[in-house]
Amino acid sequence: MALFAIGDFHLSFQTPEKSMDVFGKAWQHHEEKIKRNCEALVGPHDTLVITGDHSWGRKLPECEQDLAFIAALPGRKILLRGNHDMFWDAKRTASLNRRFEGRLSFLQNNFYAYEDYALVGTKGFTFEGPFYLDGEGHVVGWDEEREAHARKLIERECVRLRRSLDAAVEAGYKKFLLFLHYPPTNILEQQSPFTDIAEEYGVEQVIYSHCHGEERFHDSLQGTVRGITYRLVSGDYLDFRPVKIL
Ligand SMILES: [Fe+2]
Ligand SMILES: [Fe+2]
Repeated sequence: MALFAIGDFHLSFQTPEKSMDVFGKAWQHHEEKIKRNCEALVGPHDTLVITGDHSWGRKLPECEQDLAFIAALPGRKILLRGNHDMFWDAKRTASLNRRFEGRLSFLQNNFYAYEDYALVGTKGFTFEGPFYLDGEGHVVGWDEEREAHARKLIERECVRLRRSLDAAVEAGYKKFLLFLHYPPTNILEQQSPFTDIAEEYGVEQVIYSHCHGEERFHDSLQGTVRGITYRLVSGDYLDFRPVKIL
């Protein structure tokens, strides 16, 4: 048994006008890379957590082929919500879980067990600017209205994250792996409400995605920070090879 993670498939089987092929070499036929790499690495008894931005479809019927593609990958698939997953209303997670029972599991306000670990998580949120730079590229300010809005979204996501963690604690779990779609901090931060919660609950690893393109791969924490291991698993960062977490 092994646990793998990867994010940001951005599939578009039913929405070809949204194809990611235009975003450069890494994205050329990326769905073939996903299938090939998952089949080579992930066994039938392994778990694969997919950290959001699954499909470009706006409503569930437009995502059916994308979700069927994911369901056909090997192992147990656990899905997290990304900012582009319009088909997934957080409040309707239980109905998605019923509909895809035995094929896909949707992680929101709940948790899944992997050996003696609880896999917890939520989409998260980070304020991504705009930041204002001086002539030398140093940040000298930012859009304060947008930052205030971001604060509200972060608060809501923290409530959802605590629900997931508390459900695991109540069930007796003491070891946690935390999945976020957004990076845990923005480019200016070393600490955020998400890193605070991770530290409070003694989370071992924080695994996130959302960051695309070379210039964004180092937007947030990576490696061990204050005792927690942070890992970026966005698809293009991994060249669409799922990374072994445990
Ligand atoms: Fe993405
Ligand atoms: Fe995203």
